[in-house]
Amino acid sequence: MSGSGFPALPPELSGRVELMFMPECDSTSSCLKRLAPELRGDTVLIASRQTGGRGRMGRSFYSPEGSGLYMSILTRPGLSPADLPLLTPAAAVAVCGAIEELTDRRAEIKWVNDILIGGKKVCGILTESALGPGGEALYCVVGIGVNLSPPRGGFPEDIADTAGSVLAEYRPDLLPKLAFSIIRRFYELLPDVSSLGFLPEYRSRSALPGRDIWVIRDGSVLPARAVGVDDRCGLQVRYPDGAFETLRSGEVTVRVR
Ligand code: BTN
Repeated sequence: MSGSGFPALPPELSGRVELMFMPECDSTSSCLKRLAPELRGDTVLIASRQTGGRGRMGRSFYSPEGSGLYMSILTRPGLSPADLPLLTPAAAVAVCGAIEELTDRRAEIKWVNDILIGGKKVCGILTESALGPGGEALYCVVGIGVNLSPPRGGFPEDIADTAGSVLAEYRPDLLPKLAFSIIRRFYELLPDVSSLGFLPEYRSRSALPGRDIWVIRDGSVLPARAVGVDDRCGLQVRYPDGAFETLRSGEVTVRVR
């Protein structure tokens, strides 16, 4: 890392992960996946900007220079295939804790992978896993994008109503401090992911229970009420006809009256 201009990892992290920094890449997650065969240990890649930042559902993630943290963590957590979906909610808890450690903003989680401040999305998380023949994860890449401050010129029109930033103004020390706090918190949570050690905090930070939502599925949009988060981080919803369902994947949005 020396010479990159990015601060060195703090001592408590330096034996745990390698840190790589790039001024620009297409996507920190794509880049780490390409490098994966050569990487022996866990590796974190941070870029100043992404030219092809990726989000869930094939969407892009707006990644301009100077206003966001774009970071991916390549890890080999030794989780069973059934437990792999728990990595994203654990990372969400790590991001919320880091934001609150370093700012006075209260961070909430919008199931399953968005972090909200004041109802606006300030962070998205995309976890991808390379699976072996038995369905075991050879490695996982947890990609985290945080809008730290409003981008110059504002957010693009398609996300202008929904996107927000952690702070109203740029604060130069926030990017490395937030990155290191997220990494530290993520690795503190990792040993207890299978036993759902993060679940109480995930639940207490969940923004949706009690809210009216739209469930977006297979091209249709259904009204429902979010009623809770189950013990595998599924979103429990009740439909107007009384039917109950636990969502394991997919997307919901808050209904605005
Ligand atoms: C989402 O909101 O749907 C997830 C967004 C994830 C964005 C991060 S930024 C770092 C990493 N690289 C990517 O291309 N995507 C993730």
